[in-house]
Amino acid sequence: MNIQQSHSPEGLTINLRRPTFDLEPILARDWHGDSASKTAFFNAMSMLFPLGEKFFIDSVRAFRNDIEDQKLLEEITAFQGQEAIHRLKHQEYNELLCQVRGYDLAEFEKPARKRLAWVKENLSARRQLAGTVANEHITAIMADDMLRRGDSLIGADPIIADLWRWHGVEETEHKAVAFDVYMAVCGSTKLLRRAMLMSTLFFFKDTFRNMRIMLRHEGKLWNIREWTSSLNFLFGKPGILRRLFPAYLKFFRKDFHPWQDDNRYLVKEWEERFSDTTSP
Ligand SMILES: [Fe+2]
Ligand SMILES: [Fe+2]
Repeated sequence: MNIQQSHSPEGLTINLRRPTFDLEPILARDWHGDSASKTAFFNAMSMLFPLGEKFFIDSVRAFRNDIEDQKLLEEITAFQGQEAIHRLKHQEYNELLCQVRGYDLAEFEKPARKRLAWVKENLSARRQLAGTVANEHITAIMADDMLRRGDSLIGADPIIADLWRWHGVEETEHKAVAFDVYMAVCGSTKLLRRAMLMSTLFFFKDTFRNMRIMLRHEGKLWNIREWTSSLNFLFGKPGILRRLFPAYLKFFRKDFHPWQDDNRYLVKEWEERFSDTTSP
């Protein structure tokens, strides 16, 4: 008898896509509405992905042999495939960005590299997986907001906007995979909540650190207009991070599951409107 460990909706497909993006002519300039700080916010997040996504893949893989549900096993394979391609695309993005702007990639990655090495050495596999589950919720609610409202990419270069939307679509498709694995092998909500608080702290710390380095490099670190505009963008109006708060809090509910918010229509909409622009 097959045990049900996957709780994703019936008919959900987690698709492996291999899009190509010609970023070279874009990354040298402020590609988001000619705003150095909005551009730096997205570029700063991109810097976190290659190391982060490698960690997510490894932490889920560690429990693969404990999963019996064939459906969840297939979802794990698809999750690993999607995250591996994200990792690759953001690695290319980051290397190109550093090359054209004269940034030092190692400087951006240093704190996360050190922290993840410590985590791998000192925390149990279950705690590591809890960290992945928390980060997957953060990326899933950001993706939902970006795809649903569409205003966070207004003014962005269309090619790089395609990259962010493609990543958002795949984060939506696989949003419950790490969660279902965690529930099958551990299930402690206490551990999850603690992991979420730590992940949130480090998400902000790393993103703002990277933004600060980028703006300093551009000679705009003390530009009040840049900071006012980006703080407004993130926390005021439209407040792309502020407005995530209700969805963020759902994670702390006892009966939370990522698919309680069934937003598959966003994937469908994206397939109808944009997917041809990201096909190889
Ligand atoms: Fe990803
Ligand atoms: Fe993910």
